[in-house]
Amino acid sequence: MSTAPYPIEIVQGSPADLPHVNAIMAEAFDPRFGEAWTPSQCLGMLALPGVWFAIAWVDDQPAGFALARAVLDEGELLLLAIRPKMRRRGIGTALLRTIVAQAQDRGATLLHLEVRSNNDAVRLYRSEGFEKIGERRDYYRGRDGKSFDAHTFSKSIA
Ligand SMILES: CC(C)(COP(=O)(O)OP(=O)(O)OC[C@H]1O[C@@H](n2cnc3c(N)ncnc32)[C@H](O)[C@@H]1OP(=O)(O)O)[C@@H](O)C(=O)NCCC(=O)NCCS
Repeated sequence: MSTAPYPIEIVQGSPADLPHVNAIMAEAFDPRFGEAWTPSQCLGMLALPGVWFAIAWVDDQPAGFALARAVLDEGELLLLAIRPKMRRRGIGTALLRTIVAQAQDRGATLLHLEVRSNNDAVRLYRSEGFEKIGERRDYYRGRDGKSFDAHTFSKSIA
């Protein structure tokens, strides 16, 4: 991970930040893979208990976000996205580590995530200590109707 030559500020997201989340989502996810959520899916998820998100700011610009959920002792990273022009500067790692710490604060001892099997993000998750625990065939349906497998990962954060 390269070190950012500027401060990354990670703040707790609020409903007022949803336009930033939706803008980052539209930029970050390649529609070929069907991983992005719609604004209404995000809104619906945020209404559920134990769901929160964090936004990374760089130079007063929203650079990325992470959405997560924690219920009792289990947490799940639901989404992690960084604007394309801000990648490979450590922002994804910083957000992921923040979510791990926040999930611990909420009582989670295990953090799960699900990712397209051939997503470059797998390398980030493995380097942060996540281990593959399962596979879901044809989980993502892309723009052209093509399906992609998901792999599930988890990490003990006790
Ligand atoms: C995956 C993602 C969040 C990574 O964000 P990022 O800010 O670029 O991540 P970092 O700079 O912290 O990367 C840390 C390490 O992860 C690995 N990594 C990250 N992106 C990678 C890529 N495209 N290819 C290979 N390795 C990669 C590298 O080991 C990297 O360290 P390095 O830059 O020193 O080689 C970002 O590429 C993204 O938003 N992708 C689209 C959305 C998505 O697929 N999210 C994940 C599923 S929800």
